[in-house]
Amino acid sequence: MEHTISITEQAERKVTDTKSIPFGKVPTEHMFVAEYKDGEWHNAQVVPLHDLTLSPLALCLHYGQTVFEGMKAFVTEEGKINIFRIDKHHDRFSKSLHRMCMPAVPKKLFIDAIHNLVKLDADWVPREADGSLYIRPFMIATEDRIGVKVSDEFLFMVVCSPAFQYYTKPLKVKVETTYVRAAQGGTGAAKCGGNYGGAFLPTQLAREAGYDQVLWTDSIHHEFIEESGTMNAMFYFDNVLVTPQLSGTILDGVTRDTLLALAREKGIVVEERHISYHELVRAFNEGKRVEAFGAGTAAVVAPIETIAIGHKEYTCYTGADAVMFRLQKELYDIRRGIVPDTHKWNYIIN
Ligand code: COI
Repeated sequence: MEHTISITEQAERKVTDTKSIPFGKVPTEHMFVAEYKDGEWHNAQVVPLHDLTLSPLALCLHYGQTVFEGMKAFVTEEGKINIFRIDKHHDRFSKSLHRMCMPAVPKKLFIDAIHNLVKLDADWVPREADGSLYIRPFMIATEDRIGVKVSDEFLFMVVCSPAFQYYTKPLKVKVETTYVRAAQGGTGAAKCGGNYGGAFLPTQLAREAGYDQVLWTDSIHHEFIEESGTMNAMFYFDNVLVTPQLSGTILDGVTRDTLLALAREKGIVVEERHISYHELVRAFNEGKRVEAFGAGTAAVVAPIETIAIGHKEYTCYTGADAVMFRLQKELYDIRRGIVPDTHKWNYIIN
């Protein structure tokens, strides 16, 4: 079914100094919203940003039927706007929605919604090389009913906010062996709100202990690395880029996928497999140079300088010649149209 998107433009356009805005704090002037009812999407519109009116009985407020995505738009060297890997984000959104019993958003509706919104708020896409427009598509269950059930009504929305560096310095992380993020058969691979809410307490405890984030381990052995806070986890040692395999408990990160593809192209050996923290301890104890970093849309490449395993802290390599920075530069250059986009990852808004 074709969806017509109506556009209501805000009269006044005032883009301020986007660089000083903390991540996610200031939304752009417009939003996209569509309603799902009677088995169909209705009223797709780009409108001035406004608060929602929601029944206190809305199912999303009680049972966590929510899913979101995070993607970015950039200004290319030629001054065009580029939305990076919109197809892959739609693909992951669809999988998350399926896992959470929520209705699919047709790809055309997803792309048209984001295209029209970003085009209208194009002045908000930072021009600086380290800036981007963070795009947040999301869906919530809106049926008003206290009974535990799959909602029959939903809102699909998109909001945007200018973004610069998510982490401003190399991270100190703690390998978490008490709390778990996800277990086999759970929702670990879905980008649903509950995964993030459940991570708050362990992350807060790690912060109180002096760390920025936790490195999650598996739910059975509490030994194999899963992912970190808001990012996938990657390591480079023994000339190999190693990252946990997509086992159903971690997120299928778009940045993860991008960096692995770029690494393979550069002839770097890539392994997607189990990584025991004992293996990391061995590498550190043998005096090997170990790079560790997070990979995520918001964080991009986030270098890790310290990993706490048990009561010991280990120092990772973060020198300027680190492999992670080579990959990061390649990614930046593709997104900005500085090098050819051979993978067709860029979606250019004309
Ligand atoms: C992202 O990297 O896009 C995320 O969703 C992580 C975080 C901002 C929640």
